[in-house]
Amino acid sequence: MISLNFKASLDFLGAPVYNAFLERSLKAFDTLVSGSGAGNDFLGWLNLPSDMLNSSILAEIEEVKERWYKMGVDTVVSIGIGGSYLGAAAAIKALSPSFHKEGTPEEPEVLFAGNNLSEDYLYELLEYIKEKNVGVVVISKSGTTTEPAVTFRILKSYMEQRYGLERAKELIVAITDARKGALKGLSEKMGYKTFVIPDNVGGRFSVLTPVGLLPIALAGFDIKRMLEGAADMQRACAIREADNGAIQYAAVRNALYSCGKKIEILANYNPKLQLFGEWWKQLYGESEGKEGKGIFPAAVSNTTDLHSMGQFIQQAERNLMEVVLNVREAEHTVTIESSKDDSDGLNYLAGRRVEEVNANAFEGTLMAHVDGLVPNTVIEIDHLDEYSLGELFYFFEFACGVSGYLLGVNPFDQPGVEFYKKNMFKLLGKPGYQK
Ligand code: PA5
Repeated sequence: MISLNFKASLDFLGAPVYNAFLERSLKAFDTLVSGSGAGNDFLGWLNLPSDMLNSSILAEIEEVKERWYKMGVDTVVSIGIGGSYLGAAAAIKALSPSFHKEGTPEEPEVLFAGNNLSEDYLYELLEYIKEKNVGVVVISKSGTTTEPAVTFRILKSYMEQRYGLERAKELIVAITDARKGALKGLSEKMGYKTFVIPDNVGGRFSVLTPVGLLPIALAGFDIKRMLEGAADMQRACAIREADNGAIQYAAVRNALYSCGKKIEILANYNPKLQLFGEWWKQLYGESEGKEGKGIFPAAVSNTTDLHSMGQFIQQAERNLMEVVLNVREAEHTVTIESSKDDSDGLNYLAGRRVEEVNANAFEGTLMAHVDGLVPNTVIEIDHLDEYSLGELFYFFEFACGVSGYLLGVNPFDQPGVEFYKKNMFKLLGKPGYQK
């Protein structure tokens, strides 16, 4: 189980302030689990882990995996943006070796596209996959988002020219709404294998649907184990108690926000968690940043960013709080050797593991930040594996629902995202957008 320590934040806030927010957090919990709040038609994610473990979807995902294995697919291009890509990208980065490994049919390389509109990115992707055996997963709940739609139009044509219409059909899988959207119509017309994103699950809460699970499984990771971690967290989060970590985290961050801590930084001490920070930023940013309210979510990867953002965090305007995601055990061992002449002065570290140095950097930074009035919450997992990631995904989603209601917003809509689209469509001359 993940552990949560918010002592430093409690010391900063004082018990009366924390307890007042804890009461509000418990009420927000009631709103969430009773389904009585705004956006209550988007609560399907609450039971997703247990629902998915009992559904036929895992078997369907396995079938795609088997079929593509037999077809020799060694490279998967997963097309999607926002909630339709960040969860899978975060999990695959967290679970993969740090250095590039050639994809094989046993463990294909998963590449992401449709998450930007850079022509160079797309050109270089098409160049890269020329020598690969390619499968394409296209993901869009609305089925109309411009970035993945443009990318898929290009990839679809590439696949058809390269493999022929019939084989291309076998090498494309779509994940979209059950009824609506251009991608739904196109998939039906073409006869693609399709997975459905449930109506009541929004994009940024969809990592535990096929949106996240299919690319993660294709990359060779154990999605059942991930769902088991999430299901255990689902049970833990459902308990209405003052020591429910999700309720506590929602209370702490809102209490700190009320004291002027307007920015929350998710810090990690393992570069494999860098994209987890991106997933977390989208979850909290899109869920809470509205109606002139919201904590700005930022992320850093330490110790790398102690040498870029460390100065700012330590001494800039005191409007920062921190949540530190720490992995207790490294998977591998690298020990610092003794040197005869000690010319680099590091013999005081001889015989110690690099992870021990990292752990001390983590402790030392926490102390410095507390002294610098950056209160923190530490969330720890023992190992970076599928089970822990499942726990973390569900924990942060649940806490986000509670926190959004505590803040007084609808955490499940994103009306602000439409504004840039209208301007872009007008500039591009899309029919119906000229005026
Ligand atoms: O959380 C959300 O709803 C958004 O981030 C969407 O996931 C994102 O805009 C992509 O939308 P779609 O899946 O409809 O293409």
